[in-house]
Amino acid sequence: MPHHEQPPTPAALRRAVVTGSAGFIGSHLAHALAQYGTTVIGVDRRDPSTNATAIANLASLRGLPGYHHITADLVTCAIDPLLIDADAVFHLAGIPGVRPSWGPRFSDYLTSNVLATHRVVEACTRVGVPRMVVASSSSVYGPTDGGASTEADRPKPASPYAVTKLAEEQLCLAYAERPVGPGTVALRYFTVYGPRQRADMFTHRALQAALTGQPLRLYGDGHQRRDFTYVDDVVAATIAAATVPSARGVINVGGGSNASLLEVINIVSGLVGRDIQLQQDNVRSGDVLVTRADPGRAREVLGWQPRVDLHDGLRAHMQALAAQVPNYSRAA
Ligand code: NAD
Ligand code: UGA
Repeated sequence: MPHHEQPPTPAALRRAVVTGSAGFIGSHLAHALAQYGTTVIGVDRRDPSTNATAIANLASLRGLPGYHHITADLVTCAIDPLLIDADAVFHLAGIPGVRPSWGPRFSDYLTSNVLATHRVVEACTRVGVPRMVVASSSSVYGPTDGGASTEADRPKPASPYAVTKLAEEQLCLAYAERPVGPGTVALRYFTVYGPRQRADMFTHRALQAALTGQPLRLYGDGHQRRDFTYVDDVVAATIAAATVPSARGVINVGGGSNASLLEVINIVSGLVGRDIQLQQDNVRSGDVLVTRADPGRAREVLGWQPRVDLHDGLRAHMQALAAQVPNYSRAA
Protein backbone atom coordinates (compact mmCIF):
# COMPACT_ATOMS: atom_id res chain seq x y z
CA MET A 1 0.00 0.00 0.00
CA PRO A 2 1.41 3.48 -0.83
CA HIS A 3 2.55 5.36 2.25
CA HIS A 4 0.04 8.18 1.99
CA GLU A 5 -2.99 5.88 1.98
CA GLN A 6 -4.72 5.10 5.26
CA PRO A 7 -5.65 1.47 5.95
CA PRO A 8 -9.37 0.70 5.43
CA THR A 9 -11.57 1.24 8.49
CA PRO A 10 -12.95 -1.78 10.34
CA ALA A 11 -16.32 -1.16 8.66
CA ALA A 12 -15.36 -4.19 6.56
CA LEU A 13 -15.52 -6.25 9.75
CA ARG A 14 -19.14 -6.82 10.66
CA ARG A 15 -18.30 -9.67 13.00
CA ALA A 16 -14.96 -10.70 14.45
CA VAL A 17 -13.66 -13.22 16.98
CA VAL A 18 -10.94 -12.12 19.39
CA THR A 19 -9.25 -14.94 21.31
CA GLY A 20 -7.45 -13.87 24.48
CA SER A 21 -9.93 -11.01 24.85
CA ALA A 22 -9.60 -10.96 28.65
CA GLY A 23 -5.87 -10.37 28.30
CA PHE A 24 -3.88 -7.16 27.99
CA ILE A 25 -3.74 -6.66 24.22
CA GLY A 26 -6.90 -8.66 23.41
CA SER A 27 -9.06 -6.46 25.66
CA HIS A 28 -7.81 -3.29 23.94
CA LEU A 29 -8.42 -4.83 20.52
CA ALA A 30 -11.93 -6.01 21.43
CA HIS A 31 -12.76 -2.57 22.80
CA ALA A 32 -11.53 -0.77 19.67
CA LEU A 33 -13.45 -3.12 17.36
CA ALA A 34 -16.67 -2.87 19.38
CA GLN A 35 -16.41 0.91 19.33
CA TYR A 36 -16.12 0.85 15.55
CA GLY A 37 -19.39 -1.11 15.44
CA THR A 38 -18.00 -4.60 14.86
CA THR A 39 -19.83 -7.39 16.67
CA VAL A 40 -17.07 -9.00 18.74
CA ILE A 41 -17.08 -12.54 20.09
CA GLY A 42 -14.40 -12.52 22.79
CA VAL A 43 -13.09 -15.94 23.82
CA ASP A 44 -10.89 -16.44 26.86
CA ARG A 45 -10.47 -19.09 29.50
CA ARG A 46 -10.43 -16.42 32.19
CA ASP A 47 -13.92 -16.05 33.57
CA PRO A 48 -14.87 -12.36 33.96
CA SER A 49 -17.28 -13.19 36.78
CA THR A 50 -14.52 -14.62 39.02
CA ASN A 51 -11.06 -13.81 37.63
CA ALA A 52 -9.72 -10.48 38.93
CA THR A 53 -7.54 -9.80 35.86
CA ALA A 54 -10.42 -10.51 33.51
CA ILE A 55 -12.75 -8.29 35.55
CA ALA A 56 -10.26 -5.41 35.34
CA ASN A 57 -9.37 -5.93 31.68
CA LEU A 58 -12.97 -6.26 30.53
CA ALA A 59 -14.36 -3.40 32.63
CA SER A 60 -14.39 -0.98 29.69
CA LEU A 61 -16.25 -3.53 27.56
CA ARG A 62 -19.04 -4.09 30.04
CA GLY A 63 -22.20 -2.58 28.65
CA LEU A 64 -20.73 -1.97 25.20
CA PRO A 65 -23.31 -3.32 22.76
CA GLY A 66 -21.74 -5.76 20.39
CA TYR A 67 -19.25 -7.38 22.78
CA HIS A 68 -20.08 -10.97 23.74
CA HIS A 69 -17.77 -12.85 26.08
CA ILE A 70 -17.40 -16.62 25.94
CA THR A 71 -15.44 -18.23 28.78
CA ALA A 72 -13.82 -21.25 27.19
CA ASP A 73 -10.50 -23.04 26.92
CA LEU A 74 -9.41 -23.29 23.30
CA VAL A 75 -7.62 -26.54 24.09
CA THR A 76 -10.93 -28.32 24.65
CA CYS A 77 -13.95 -26.21 23.67
CA ALA A 78 -16.04 -26.54 20.50
CA ILE A 79 -14.59 -23.74 18.35
CA ASP A 80 -16.58 -23.99 15.11
CA PRO A 81 -19.85 -22.52 16.49
CA LEU A 82 -17.95 -19.45 17.73
CA LEU A 83 -16.65 -18.67 14.26
CA ILE A 84 -19.85 -18.77 12.22
CA ASP A 85 -20.24 -15.64 10.06
CA ALA A 86 -16.96 -14.16 11.35
CA ASP A 87 -15.19 -11.92 8.85
CA ALA A 88 -11.96 -12.33 10.77
CA VAL A 89 -10.44 -14.22 13.67
CA PHE A 90 -7.84 -12.40 15.76
CA HIS A 91 -5.93 -15.12 17.60
CA LEU A 92 -4.22 -13.52 20.60
CA ALA A 93 -4.84 -16.19 23.24
CA GLY A 94 -1.69 -17.78 24.55
CA ILE A 95 0.85 -17.97 27.36
CA PRO A 96 3.07 -14.93 26.90
CA GLY A 97 6.01 -14.73 29.34
CA VAL A 98 9.59 -15.43 28.20
CA ARG A 99 11.25 -16.25 31.52
CA PRO A 100 8.80 -18.80 33.05
CA SER A 101 8.84 -20.91 29.88
CA TRP A 102 11.86 -22.95 31.04
CA GLY A 103 11.12 -26.12 33.00
CA PRO A 104 7.80 -27.77 33.80
CA ARG A 105 5.52 -24.95 32.59
CA PHE A 106 6.61 -25.65 29.01
CA SER A 107 3.67 -28.03 28.56
CA ASP A 108 1.28 -25.08 29.16
CA TYR A 109 3.08 -23.09 26.49
CA LEU A 110 2.95 -25.98 24.06
CA THR A 111 -0.70 -26.68 24.79
CA SER A 112 -2.01 -23.11 24.58
CA ASN A 113 0.37 -21.66 22.00
CA VAL A 114 0.66 -24.58 19.59
CA LEU A 115 -2.06 -27.19 20.14
CA ALA A 116 -4.84 -24.64 20.79
CA THR A 117 -3.69 -22.65 17.74
CA HIS A 118 -3.91 -25.83 15.70
CA ARG A 119 -7.52 -26.25 16.84
CA VAL A 120 -8.30 -22.61 16.00
CA VAL A 121 -6.80 -22.73 12.51
CA GLU A 122 -8.44 -26.08 11.76
CA ALA A 123 -11.78 -24.59 12.79
CA CYS A 124 -11.18 -21.44 10.69
CA THR A 125 -10.53 -23.68 7.69
CA ARG A 126 -13.62 -25.84 8.28
CA VAL A 127 -15.93 -22.87 8.82
CA GLY A 128 -14.38 -20.90 5.94
CA VAL A 129 -13.29 -17.83 7.91
CA PRO A 130 -11.71 -15.60 5.26
CA ARG A 131 -9.08 -13.90 7.43
CA MET A 132 -6.94 -14.82 10.41
CA VAL A 133 -4.54 -12.53 12.27
CA VAL A 134 -2.25 -14.29 14.72
CA ALA A 135 -0.17 -12.66 17.47
CA SER A 136 3.45 -13.68 17.05
CA SER A 137 6.43 -12.22 18.85
CA SER A 138 9.70 -10.35 18.37
CA SER A 139 11.22 -13.07 20.51
CA VAL A 140 11.29 -15.43 17.50
CA TYR A 141 14.32 -13.48 16.19
CA GLY A 142 16.47 -14.40 19.20
CA PRO A 143 19.88 -12.78 19.65
CA THR A 144 20.83 -10.24 16.99
CA ASP A 145 23.87 -8.04 16.28
CA GLY A 146 21.79 -5.07 17.48
CA GLY A 147 20.59 -4.07 14.01
CA ALA A 148 16.96 -4.03 12.92
CA SER A 149 15.30 -7.41 12.35
CA THR A 150 13.48 -7.85 9.06
CA GLU A 151 10.86 -10.49 8.39
CA ALA A 152 13.29 -12.23 6.00
CA ASP A 153 15.87 -12.84 8.77
CA ARG A 154 16.31 -16.41 9.89
CA PRO A 155 14.60 -16.83 13.28
CA LYS A 156 16.79 -18.13 16.12
CA PRO A 157 14.39 -18.38 19.08
CA ALA A 158 16.32 -18.37 22.38
CA SER A 159 13.62 -19.46 24.83
CA PRO A 160 11.02 -22.23 24.94
CA TYR A 161 8.34 -19.51 24.72
CA ALA A 162 9.86 -18.15 21.51
CA VAL A 163 10.02 -21.65 20.04
CA THR A 164 6.28 -22.07 20.61
CA LYS A 165 5.52 -18.63 19.08
CA LEU A 166 7.53 -19.51 15.98
CA ALA A 167 5.72 -22.84 15.73
CA GLU A 168 2.39 -21.04 16.20
CA GLU A 169 2.91 -18.50 13.41
CA GLN A 170 4.41 -21.05 11.01
CA LEU A 171 1.54 -23.45 11.64
CA CYS A 172 -0.96 -20.73 10.71
CA LEU A 173 1.05 -19.76 7.63
CA ALA A 174 1.24 -23.40 6.51
CA TYR A 175 -2.56 -23.65 6.72
CA ALA A 176 -2.83 -20.39 4.80
CA GLU A 177 -0.97 -21.96 1.87
CA ARG A 178 -3.76 -24.48 1.33
CA PRO A 179 -6.43 -23.43 -1.18
CA VAL A 180 -9.06 -23.63 1.58
CA GLY A 181 -6.99 -21.93 4.31
CA PRO A 182 -7.77 -18.44 5.67
CA GLY A 183 -5.79 -15.46 4.37
CA THR A 184 -3.34 -15.09 7.24
CA VAL A 185 -1.16 -12.40 8.77
CA ALA A 186 1.27 -13.21 11.61
CA LEU A 187 2.16 -10.04 13.49
CA ARG A 188 5.44 -10.04 15.39
CA TYR A 189 4.63 -7.67 18.24
CA PHE A 190 7.59 -5.95 19.93
CA THR A 191 7.32 -5.49 23.73
CA VAL A 192 3.89 -3.93 24.08
CA TYR A 193 3.15 -1.50 26.92
CA GLY A 194 0.29 0.72 28.06
CA PRO A 195 -2.71 0.56 30.41
CA ARG A 196 -3.49 -2.97 31.67
CA GLN A 197 -0.07 -4.31 30.72
CA ARG A 198 0.67 -7.68 32.32
CA ALA A 199 2.07 -7.35 35.84
CA ASP A 200 5.09 -9.56 35.00
CA MET A 201 6.38 -7.09 32.42
CA PHE A 202 9.15 -4.56 32.92
CA THR A 203 7.30 -1.31 32.20
CA HIS A 204 4.49 -2.17 34.60
CA ARG A 205 7.00 -3.08 37.29
CA ALA A 206 9.08 0.08 36.77
CA LEU A 207 5.97 2.27 37.04
CA GLN A 208 4.74 0.35 40.05
CA ALA A 209 8.14 0.74 41.75
CA ALA A 210 8.14 4.49 41.13
CA LEU A 211 4.56 4.92 42.29
CA THR A 212 4.88 2.83 45.45
CA GLY A 213 8.52 3.32 46.41
CA GLN A 214 9.04 -0.47 46.35
CA PRO A 215 12.32 -1.66 44.77
CA LEU A 216 12.53 -2.80 41.15
CA ARG A 217 14.38 -6.02 40.43
CA LEU A 218 16.67 -5.50 37.45
CA TYR A 219 17.73 -8.63 35.56
CA GLY A 220 21.21 -7.73 34.28
CA ASP A 221 22.76 -4.28 33.95
CA GLY A 222 19.74 -2.53 32.40
CA HIS A 223 21.48 -1.99 29.05
CA GLN A 224 19.07 -4.42 27.36
CA ARG A 225 17.16 -2.56 24.65
CA ARG A 226 13.62 -3.10 23.42
CA ASP A 227 11.38 -1.58 20.78
CA PHE A 228 8.68 -0.50 23.25
CA THR A 229 5.39 -0.37 21.34
CA TYR A 230 2.30 1.38 22.70
CA VAL A 231 -0.80 -0.79 22.86
CA ASP A 232 -3.02 1.58 20.80
CA ASP A 233 -0.47 1.40 17.97
CA VAL A 234 -0.48 -2.38 18.22
CA VAL A 235 -4.28 -2.43 18.01
CA ALA A 236 -4.20 -0.20 14.90
CA ALA A 237 -1.71 -2.54 13.19
CA THR A 238 -3.77 -5.57 14.17
CA ILE A 239 -6.99 -4.14 12.72
CA ALA A 240 -5.15 -3.10 9.55
CA ALA A 241 -3.86 -6.67 9.18
CA ALA A 242 -7.48 -7.82 8.90
CA THR A 243 -8.79 -5.01 6.73
CA VAL A 244 -6.03 -4.44 4.14
CA PRO A 245 -7.15 -6.99 1.53
CA SER A 246 -3.68 -7.81 0.19
CA ALA A 247 -1.97 -8.26 3.59
CA ARG A 248 -0.41 -11.70 4.01
CA GLY A 249 2.51 -13.33 5.83
CA VAL A 250 4.75 -12.15 8.62
CA ILE A 251 4.84 -8.46 9.61
CA ASN A 252 6.83 -6.72 12.38
CA VAL A 253 4.83 -4.46 14.70
CA GLY A 254 7.38 -2.19 16.35
CA GLY A 255 10.00 0.33 15.45
CA GLY A 256 8.86 3.50 17.16
CA SER A 257 10.71 3.75 20.45
CA ASN A 258 13.90 1.82 20.94
CA ALA A 259 15.25 2.35 24.45
CA SER A 260 17.29 0.63 27.15
CA LEU A 261 15.74 -0.39 30.45
CA LEU A 262 17.83 2.30 32.17
CA GLU A 263 16.38 4.92 29.81
CA VAL A 264 12.86 3.75 30.67
CA ILE A 265 13.72 3.91 34.37
CA ASN A 266 14.85 7.51 33.89
CA ILE A 267 11.69 8.56 32.07
CA VAL A 268 9.48 6.83 34.62
CA SER A 269 11.31 8.43 37.56
CA GLY A 270 10.89 11.83 35.92
CA LEU A 271 7.18 11.29 35.24
CA VAL A 272 6.41 10.12 38.77
CA GLY A 273 8.87 12.40 40.52
CA ARG A 274 10.62 9.68 42.49
CA ASP A 275 13.87 7.75 41.95
CA ILE A 276 13.47 4.03 41.54
CA GLN A 277 15.36 1.88 43.97
CA LEU A 278 17.07 -0.91 41.99
CA GLN A 279 17.72 -4.44 43.17
CA GLN A 280 20.36 -6.00 40.93
CA ASP A 281 19.69 -9.59 39.85
CA ASN A 282 21.09 -12.06 37.31
CA VAL A 283 20.33 -11.96 33.59
CA ARG A 284 17.55 -14.43 32.89
CA SER A 285 17.97 -17.31 30.42
CA GLY A 286 16.45 -16.63 27.03
CA ASP A 287 16.51 -12.86 27.54
CA VAL A 288 17.94 -11.20 24.42
CA LEU A 289 20.08 -8.09 24.66
CA VAL A 290 18.38 -6.10 21.89
CA THR A 291 15.13 -6.23 19.97
CA ARG A 292 14.66 -3.75 17.16
CA ALA A 293 12.06 -3.95 14.40
CA ASP A 294 12.54 -3.03 10.80
CA PRO A 295 9.14 -1.37 10.32
CA GLY A 296 9.34 -1.20 6.49
CA ARG A 297 6.99 -4.05 5.69
CA ALA A 298 4.32 -2.82 8.14
CA ARG A 299 4.49 0.59 6.48
CA GLU A 300 4.33 -0.76 2.93
CA VAL A 301 1.76 -3.51 3.42
CA LEU A 302 -0.45 -2.08 6.18
CA GLY A 303 0.17 1.65 5.80
CA TRP A 304 0.99 1.50 9.52
CA GLN A 305 3.58 3.20 11.61
CA PRO A 306 3.80 3.74 15.35
CA ARG A 307 2.49 7.14 16.45
CA VAL A 308 2.86 7.20 20.23
CA ASP A 309 6.34 8.06 21.50
CA LEU A 310 7.75 6.47 24.60
CA HIS A 311 7.38 9.49 26.86
CA ASP A 312 3.70 10.03 26.01
CA GLY A 313 2.96 6.32 26.14
CA LEU A 314 4.58 5.91 29.54
CA ARG A 315 2.64 8.90 30.86
CA ALA A 316 -0.65 7.33 29.77
CA HIS A 317 0.41 3.99 31.23
CA MET A 318 1.41 5.67 34.51
CA GLN A 319 -1.89 7.56 34.78
CA ALA A 320 -3.89 4.36 34.26
CA LEU A 321 -1.88 2.46 36.84
CA ALA A 322 -2.07 5.25 39.40
CA ALA A 323 -5.85 5.50 38.97
CA GLN A 324 -6.31 1.75 39.28
CA VAL A 325 -4.87 1.49 42.79
CA PRO A 326 -6.08 4.49 44.79
CA ASN A 327 -3.55 4.20 47.59
CA TYR A 328 -0.49 4.52 45.41
CA SER A 329 1.58 7.15 47.16
CA ARG A 330 2.60 9.71 44.56
CA ALA A 331 5.83 11.50 45.33
CA ALA A 332 5.56 15.26 45.55
P1 NAD B 1 -2.20 -11.89 28.27
O1 NAD B 1 -1.73 -13.02 29.11
O2 NAD B 1 -2.59 -10.63 28.95
O3 NAD B 1 -3.42 -12.38 27.35
C1 NAD B 1 -3.51 -13.68 26.84
C2 NAD B 1 -4.90 -14.23 27.13
O4 NAD B 1 -5.00 -15.53 26.51
C3 NAD B 1 -5.18 -14.43 28.62
O5 NAD B 1 -6.33 -13.70 29.01
C4 NAD B 1 -5.38 -15.93 28.78
O6 NAD B 1 -6.37 -16.28 29.72
C5 NAD B 1 -5.79 -16.33 27.38
N1 NAD B 1 -5.52 -17.75 27.10
C6 NAD B 1 -4.32 -18.39 27.21
N2 NAD B 1 -4.46 -19.67 26.90
C7 NAD B 1 -5.77 -19.86 26.56
C8 NAD B 1 -6.52 -20.97 26.16
N3 NAD B 1 -5.98 -22.19 26.04
N4 NAD B 1 -7.85 -20.81 25.88
C9 NAD B 1 -8.43 -19.58 26.03
N5 NAD B 1 -7.76 -18.50 26.43
C10 NAD B 1 -6.44 -18.63 26.69
O7 NAD B 1 -1.04 -11.62 27.18
P2 NAD B 1 -0.80 -10.38 26.22
O8 NAD B 1 0.41 -9.67 26.70
O9 NAD B 1 -2.07 -9.64 25.99
O10 NAD B 1 -0.39 -11.15 24.88
C11 NAD B 1 -1.37 -11.50 23.91
C12 NAD B 1 -0.70 -12.26 22.77
O11 NAD B 1 0.31 -11.44 22.18
C13 NAD B 1 0.00 -13.55 23.21
O12 NAD B 1 -0.19 -14.50 22.19
C14 NAD B 1 1.46 -13.15 23.29
O13 NAD B 1 2.33 -14.25 23.04
C15 NAD B 1 1.56 -12.13 22.17
N6 NAD B 1 2.61 -11.13 22.36
C16 NAD B 1 2.55 -10.24 23.41
C17 NAD B 1 3.54 -9.28 23.53
C18 NAD B 1 3.54 -8.29 24.67
O14 NAD B 1 4.48 -7.49 24.73
N7 NAD B 1 2.54 -8.28 25.54
C19 NAD B 1 4.57 -9.20 22.59
C20 NAD B 1 4.62 -10.14 21.57
C21 NAD B 1 3.61 -11.08 21.44
C1 UGA C 1 7.88 -9.20 26.12
C2 UGA C 1 6.58 -9.92 26.46
O1 UGA C 1 6.55 -10.27 27.85
C3 UGA C 1 6.41 -11.18 25.62
O2 UGA C 1 5.08 -11.62 25.80
C4 UGA C 1 6.63 -10.83 24.17
O3 UGA C 1 6.52 -11.96 23.36
C5 UGA C 1 7.97 -10.16 23.96
O4 UGA C 1 8.02 -8.97 24.75
C6 UGA C 1 8.13 -9.72 22.52
O5 UGA C 1 8.48 -8.58 22.25
O6 UGA C 1 7.93 -10.54 21.64
P1 UGA C 1 10.23 -9.20 27.20
O7 UGA C 1 11.02 -8.49 26.19
O8 UGA C 1 10.91 -10.21 28.08
O9 UGA C 1 8.99 -9.96 26.58
O10 UGA C 1 9.51 -8.05 28.05
P2 UGA C 1 9.51 -7.72 29.60
O11 UGA C 1 8.95 -8.83 30.37
O12 UGA C 1 8.89 -6.40 29.73
O13 UGA C 1 11.09 -7.61 29.89
C7 UGA C 1 11.90 -6.63 29.26
C8 UGA C 1 13.26 -6.64 29.89
O14 UGA C 1 13.15 -6.23 31.26
C9 UGA C 1 13.95 -8.00 29.92
O15 UGA C 1 15.32 -7.85 29.66
C10 UGA C 1 13.75 -8.49 31.35
O16 UGA C 1 14.75 -9.37 31.81
C11 UGA C 1 13.77 -7.19 32.11
N1 UGA C 1 13.00 -7.24 33.38
C12 UGA C 1 11.71 -7.65 33.37
C13 UGA C 1 13.61 -6.83 34.55
O17 UGA C 1 14.79 -6.45 34.56
N2 UGA C 1 12.88 -6.89 35.70
C14 UGA C 1 11.59 -7.30 35.73
O18 UGA C 1 10.98 -7.33 36.84
C15 UGA C 1 10.99 -7.70 34.54
